[in-house]
Amino acid sequence: MPRFPADFLWGTATAAYQIEGAVDEDGRGRSTWDTFCAEPGRVRDGHTGAVACDHYHRYREDVALMAELGLNAYRFSVSWPRVQPGGSGGPNTKGLDFYDRLTDELAARGITPFLTLHHWDLPQELEDTGGWLARDTAYRFADYAEIVHTRLGDRVAHWTTLNEPFVQMAFGYALGVHAPGKALLMDALPAAHHLLLGHGLGTAALRAAGASHILLTNNHTPVRPASADPADTAAADAYDALHNRLFLDPVFLGRYPDLTAYGVSEVPGVSEDDLDLISAPLDGFGVNYYNPTRIAAPESPDAALPFTDAGITGVPRTGFDWPVVPEGLTELLIDLNARYPLPPVYITENGCAYPDPAPDPDIPNATVPDPERIAYLDAHIRAVASARTAGVDVRGYLVWSLLDNFEWAEGYHQRFGLIHVDFTTQKRTPKTSALWYQAHIAAMS
Ligand code: FCB
Repeated sequence: MPRFPADFLWGTATAAYQIEGAVDEDGRGRSTWDTFCAEPGRVRDGHTGAVACDHYHRYREDVALMAELGLNAYRFSVSWPRVQPGGSGGPNTKGLDFYDRLTDELAARGITPFLTLHHWDLPQELEDTGGWLARDTAYRFADYAEIVHTRLGDRVAHWTTLNEPFVQMAFGYALGVHAPGKALLMDALPAAHHLLLGHGLGTAALRAAGASHILLTNNHTPVRPASADPADTAAADAYDALHNRLFLDPVFLGRYPDLTAYGVSEVPGVSEDDLDLISAPLDGFGVNYYNPTRIAAPESPDAALPFTDAGITGVPRTGFDWPVVPEGLTELLIDLNARYPLPPVYITENGCAYPDPAPDPDIPNATVPDPERIAYLDAHIRAVASARTAGVDVRGYLVWSLLDNFEWAEGYHQRFGLIHVDFTTQKRTPKTSALWYQAHIAAMS
């Protein structure tokens, strides 16, 4: 394994709705994900995040597990409806208290917190007035950012505004497979702009409050054309504009990309000064990487979108059927670095789901064998090292995820954790990948 600097951050990532549970406790308001899960047919087998990993009550045990693995960073998200139940107005002190306890626990264990303000669980009251389709939500987000910073700014240095605005817009508002379940296709574009505006306003609020390390995290994919046919390369360019450029050009270049392939001449609802706010300098950029994308021209000229997913072939697949292409991460990082004046980069998510077995109840201290995950992590960490060698300033790597958890529309069917969770007993069992990561971190320090 190539060497990484001694101050490189090695951690794991989670998100509030996927692990906390306790959805009705201490004054938490309802989120769009509570609503979505309650709608029949939305989430596989009707699973919900109502209990999840019960992390709200077991965070001490979970932080202790992280400390045992030797992690020096932990990325988690704050539940907006726990802190501001209706998404506006004064804070819910009891909700903030939880994150106060969690950050103290992390500090006591020497683990650097990477706090994400919004990982998809929007207060339902805000959704009822338009959610991210409404410009006002961006202003509400900035107020919320300030509330959280006021309480935790003395202990949290790394602030991420949003998690994966591309996925939130595409899955939540364009395709309807995530909350709030709207299938508006390109009419979802205002959600993209308002998410970006929320990022810009939130950044300004955090800056004014004294935050010195502000990030945005997005999901990115290297886009490969299915063939050299100009129709396929044009389709690949169109997809790249939507998945990668729509959220990066405004942030790093101060303008929207060309979306004419979608029949869009201008992103709607952009006011003067919006792009100045959105392109304010950042201190770090979070890349979530899972796989590349292979894109072809649409099968029919009347197709709703100017591309079709041709699928990556000839590579192994995870249990989620996602292609395993570690070199795609190197390719992506080098490409993004060439396109944009990037601040330091953090891999804020990378990981894989496999149908890992349960620990053998007859063996004391049994672990869970997950050799594919070890191979996956090893190969992707090497891919990060290659990108660093090629000049990309990557400063940290956070595995998705610490624990098996509520995997959105897949419910509890996809296990991404380094630590196995028995969702009946809540027993945590480190998988062999956790022990591998522990040894890797120890060897790097
Ligand atoms: C990302 C999400 C994260 C998790 C992983 C598998 O898109 O940010 O919450 O679900 O995928």
